[in-house]
Amino acid sequence: MSLPIRPRRLRTSAAMRAMVSETRVHPAQLMMPVFVREDITAPTPIASMPGQSQHTLDTLRRLASEIAAAGVGGIDLFAIPERKDAEGSQAWAEDGIMSRGIAAIRAEVGTDLVICADTCLDEFTDHGHCGVLTKTGTVDNDATLPLYARMAVAQAAAGAHMVSPSGMMDGQIAEIRAALDANGYTDVAIMAYSAKYASAFYGPFREAVDCSLQGDRKTYQQDPANRREGLREALLDIDEGADIVMVKPAGYYLDVLADVAAASPVPVAAYQVSGEYAMVEAAAANGWVERERIIPESITAIARAGADIVLTYWAHEYAQKWA
Ligand code: PBG
Repeated sequence: MSLPIRPRRLRTSAAMRAMVSETRVHPAQLMMPVFVREDITAPTPIASMPGQSQHTLDTLRRLASEIAAAGVGGIDLFAIPERKDAEGSQAWAEDGIMSRGIAAIRAEVGTDLVICADTCLDEFTDHGHCGVLTKTGTVDNDATLPLYARMAVAQAAAGAHMVSPSGMMDGQIAEIRAALDANGYTDVAIMAYSAKYASAFYGPFREAVDCSLQGDRKTYQQDPANRREGLREALLDIDEGADIVMVKPAGYYLDVLADVAAASPVPVAAYQVSGEYAMVEAAAANGWVERERIIPESITAIARAGADIVLTYWAHEYAQKWA
């Protein structure tokens, strides 16, 4: 049979396949989301995210140094305070758990990891929304912006190299950039959660941060049906000064990710969220999928679609096993 063109030739051996592989994920491009909690004395496993825990300041430090030693690029810190209020004031408190968590990581690893902090109020407000509320109970965009600015400045003061606004308020990037610059933090980068969808895939995370939310975030996070709008949000954030833009969730939003990657002049991140993690762990625990293959495949797919940076709860394990 005359069949001169045979794509299978490039799949004949592991060496051949490795040579022509288009996508390789390096641990330096991975970021590990981690949780620190104020009112605990020992790490507390998160039931819906097997393998992940809420950490004490001590175990957070240890984890940060292990992650750095494994070659992971960065860490993204979420903090769970003991006290919550309507404004979320523990978010910027100098002696609050967020500031102390950042300082602890910074003291441990210095600049060996990119230390990034989540810049959003939802863990800190008693109503669980990402911003403050008006008298009628809607989320007040413009009143929230100065609070984000305060939080970002406090995170920079505590030693964060990067802040990551995830609250989806309009104008948040410009407001935070101006506040960081006015306070002398011109070198602190902003990773913008730009195309962030109102997703059911955040379910396990809500347990991880003891979220008090009643209702949903649909007036500020995006409708999962909207692709064009994801690109628009990213372009707006770039105009406002974002150093990195992000798409979230990742694996179910690869079209949005590919659009943003094609258009963005700045690096693009994607966040493989708690639900993406939990589904794989649950199916693997039942023997329904091959855990050791599906994890690297899921991360590679996100990089293939255009992510320069992947936030994943498997970052540490990936660096140890598959890099
Ligand atoms: C909000 C925030 C959320 C996540 C990261 N930042 C939850 C939400 O928007 O409800 C979700 C992360 C995950 O599911 O892994 N500050």
